[in-house]
Amino acid sequence: MRKKIIAGNWKMNILPSETAALVKGIAEATKGYSNVDVVCCTPAIDIPAAVAACAGTAVQPGAENAHWEPSGAYTGEISTGMLADAGVKYVIIGHSERRQYFGETDETVCKRTTAVIKAGLTAIVCVGETLAERDAGKVDEVIVRQMKEGLKGLSAADASKLVIAYEPVWAIGTGRTATPEQAQEVHALIRKVLGDLIGIDAAETVRIQYGGSMKPGNAAELLAQKDIDGGLIGGAALKADSFAAIIAAAAAK
Ligand code: PGA
Repeated sequence: MRKKIIAGNWKMNILPSETAALVKGIAEATKGYSNVDVVCCTPAIDIPAAVAACAGTAVQPGAENAHWEPSGAYTGEISTGMLADAGVKYVIIGHSERRQYFGETDETVCKRTTAVIKAGLTAIVCVGETLAERDAGKVDEVIVRQMKEGLKGLSAADASKLVIAYEPVWAIGTGRTATPEQAQEVHALIRKVLGDLIGIDAAETVRIQYGGSMKPGNAAELLAQKDIDGGLIGGAALKADSFAAIIAAAAAK
């Protein structure tokens, strides 16, 4: 049994001064759901406030990116050591917005993921196809490439520090959601490719989240799928009540 994991991806929303109230609202609304991991991945500048607000609650703090070098002349970047020192537990890597706007490639995803796991943090590695790729019948090809290149060099020993998020790019922030069947099909493929990379037994333990317009109204049917072990939530994670409703749906599974 894989423990469900619901993670918020705040993106470039929520001020440092608004962070504690949102985290505390989530913690309050989800008290007692011990069968779900709850994570808030926040902008870097919100991290100190998020870590402080998470203390003594079941909510765990996360980041949205990390550099692969341990230190050095990389103006504007943040290392995994800095994140760990600040109290972060999870780091999103390779989100499609980073791939689309900030030059993230499968190669840099691999370097960042390796650094995150080496630092003892858990990487939430995002994969997913664009609408053009889906329409061209290239879903499998894109997912297999992103997985094989992005996770190169990982082994079964890394499985407990790895979460995969399947986020079809056409479903992110658009209100369009993959159907549960469409999502399950890709999740099953992801688990199969993981099996090729780190072994079938280890692949069975890795949580695979769905992301892309997941909300209270569709969370239950997505989470009912065999290989959907949680969600990576953008818009619906910015309000405690909608995020808590998704967590409740996961807790009921
Ligand atoms: P969304 O974003 O829930 O707003 O579609 C998900 C994500 O980008 O992680």
